[in-house]
Amino acid sequence: MAETSPQLGQHSAASITCVKKLAESPDLDSIPSHYTYYTNPAETMASDPHDSIPTIDLSLLTSDNPDHRSKAIHHLDKACEEWGFFMIVNHGIPEQLMRDVIDVTNEFFNLPEEEKPEFQPENVLEPIRYGTSFNTAKEKVFWWRDFLKVFVHPEFHCPHKPQSLREVVVEYCRKSREVVRKLLKGISESLGIEESEMEKCLGLDSSLQIFIANLYPRCPNPDVAVGIAQHSDHGLFTLLIQNQVAGLHIQHKGNWVHVNPLPNSILVNTGDHLEIFSNGKYKSVLHRAVVNKMKARISIAVANGPSADTVVSPPPRLLQTQGCRPAYVPMQYKDYVLAQQSNQLKGKSILERVQIRD
Ligand code: OGA
Ligand code: NI
Repeated sequence: MAETSPQLGQHSAASITCVKKLAESPDLDSIPSHYTYYTNPAETMASDPHDSIPTIDLSLLTSDNPDHRSKAIHHLDKACEEWGFFMIVNHGIPEQLMRDVIDVTNEFFNLPEEEKPEFQPENVLEPIRYGTSFNTAKEKVFWWRDFLKVFVHPEFHCPHKPQSLREVVVEYCRKSREVVRKLLKGISESLGIEESEMEKCLGLDSSLQIFIANLYPRCPNPDVAVGIAQHSDHGLFTLLIQNQVAGLHIQHKGNWVHVNPLPNSILVNTGDHLEIFSNGKYKSVLHRAVVNKMKARISIAVANGPSADTVVSPPPRLLQTQGCRPAYVPMQYKDYVLAQQSNQLKGKSILERVQIRD
């Protein structure tokens, strides 16, 4: 059991529904014990990378010039294989829309807590879910993070307040799907499969898309609290933007790398289902978020998967080319998401469960 801390009065850790309110208490000068995370100090060191995070120009990926296009596809292939992480520029999502989505999400987090219980279902697969940490039913130590998770495709859901949330999220997510389709088109070429085959195998017309807003309030003890511990994402590609406050780390060649994105770029990371679909060629990348004393951080992560019913496995043509057998047990996407969301999120633990070891 976590100890009852002075800041929490008589409330038990299990009844905590948000960290924002705690972070805003005027006399909070140290965090309660159930936010104190002990990590291996060597692992918390983010190194300076010798080579920098790749940048992909999305306009080249869709260029009519075959030379530009094939160079861009090669670049994408290398970025996914060597980093599992890259920034995209010339992506076609207006800067104003990116700013709006962060602002309107902030308005959601700023709604009085009394107005939020209607968005706090028990079931982790409910299409609208506001919460804190990741899965407080399973965690002893909580993450310094509140979140809003909304299923936005193939059926669009959204909290009904604040009023402008809906129109902004609809538009941002629609444009994000266009970006993901362009990336997947490039991936299908680099894997040597037809685009239409990929669309069919993954059920992309009814792809499951989840909008996740993360709020990391200011934290008096950023050295021992964690925003999100290291994990990989389910799905194919996650698109991430933030409110100009840094905090994302990715793992690259065994080191943690700080991510300082170019202005107006979108960060992209490979998910577990790109790893499964590519039969291990494109590994999902481990990443985490740290917190800071000075400024609240907001990030918007849009997870883009196959359709919920898809049983994800590598396409036969790819296995022929690789001359390999599938390296992961095929599993329906929605079952995978359920397994991930109803447990503690830890590294690549769910992917490891389905990995076939010879
Ligand atoms: C996530 C995530 C990182 C961040 O929501 O899955 O990894 O920087 N977020 O907020
Ligand atoms: Ni993530």
